[in-house]
Amino acid sequence: MDAEEFRAASREAWEGAARGWAARREAFQGAAAPVSEWLVDALDPQPGQTILELTAGPGDTGLLAAQRVRPGGRLISTDGAAAMVAVAQARAEELGLADVVEARTMEAEWIDLPTASVDGVLSRWGIMLLADPEAALRETRRVLRPGGRLALAVWDRAEANPWSMGRLMADLLGTVPEPGQPGPFALGDPERVRELLEAAGFGDAEVSALDFAFTAAGPEQWWEQQLDCSPTLRGALAQLSPADHYKARDRVDQALEAFTEPGGTVRIPARTLTAAASA
Ligand SMILES: C[S@@+](CC[C@H](N)C(=O)[O-])C[C@H]1O[C@@H](n2cnc3c(N)ncnc32)[C@H](O)[C@@H]1O
Repeated sequence: MDAEEFRAASREAWEGAARGWAARREAFQGAAAPVSEWLVDALDPQPGQTILELTAGPGDTGLLAAQRVRPGGRLISTDGAAAMVAVAQARAEELGLADVVEARTMEAEWIDLPTASVDGVLSRWGIMLLADPEAALRETRRVLRPGGRLALAVWDRAEANPWSMGRLMADLLGTVPEPGQPGPFALGDPERVRELLEAAGFGDAEVSALDFAFTAAGPEQWWEQQLDCSPTLRGALAQLSPADHYKARDRVDQALEAFTEPGGTVRIPARTLTAAASA
């Protein structure tokens, strides 16, 4: 993998995904809120503190932490994609948190902040997507004050996350990340997460699994959510002939049958690894 090429392609994809993530915020965060809550509780932000969120996307986890640092505290909400940062900024304004939140474009592997300048760092579902996760964790430790806390979430392995529809999506996208390459499930191993944290200088890493479920009103809505949040998937489908497009949808509908409740609601299990550690 050429790391620079990977970073540029990843950035472009996420810039393109921001609009869909903004549109799907309510459904996504509705399901994923227990993970945000776990991370913020693990950080335990206090009034007056400065909290940094990396790979923040639409910003929901950091914005939860922002409510706890008043008065006098600050959330620095960051993402590599400027369009995602704009979504987080707009959400901060909507929630009346604009005075607490500074939304900035920032690479997680090059954290543009002084050493020992923040009290806590959050990242949900971003670290495993980076070309060099260890560099990001070393940078994280550098910007944390001594004793400052890190709380992060990465997906557990694909088999524990049926929403990912591993084989089917690999066929549709025509690609599957090589082992060891960045991707949603690249860090789906608690030992690997612990090793990375230790290598970055975190001494007391605790890694655990958290189960929750994604839901949608029906298979059609579930599929639309996937398309909105993954421009790569939308692009891959656009390349298919109408006949192959129908075949792909049939495979998706079949895969969803096992997760469709009698009333039609789709409920698919998800499992994330959560980790907390101190600098
Ligand atoms: C799966 S989304 C998660 C968004 C959000 N944290 C959440 O849980 O809803 C991954 C986010 O990581 C960001 N990202 C990917 N690579 C990055 C990098 N190298 N530096 C900073 N952000 C990055 C993307 O732009 C995207 O917003």
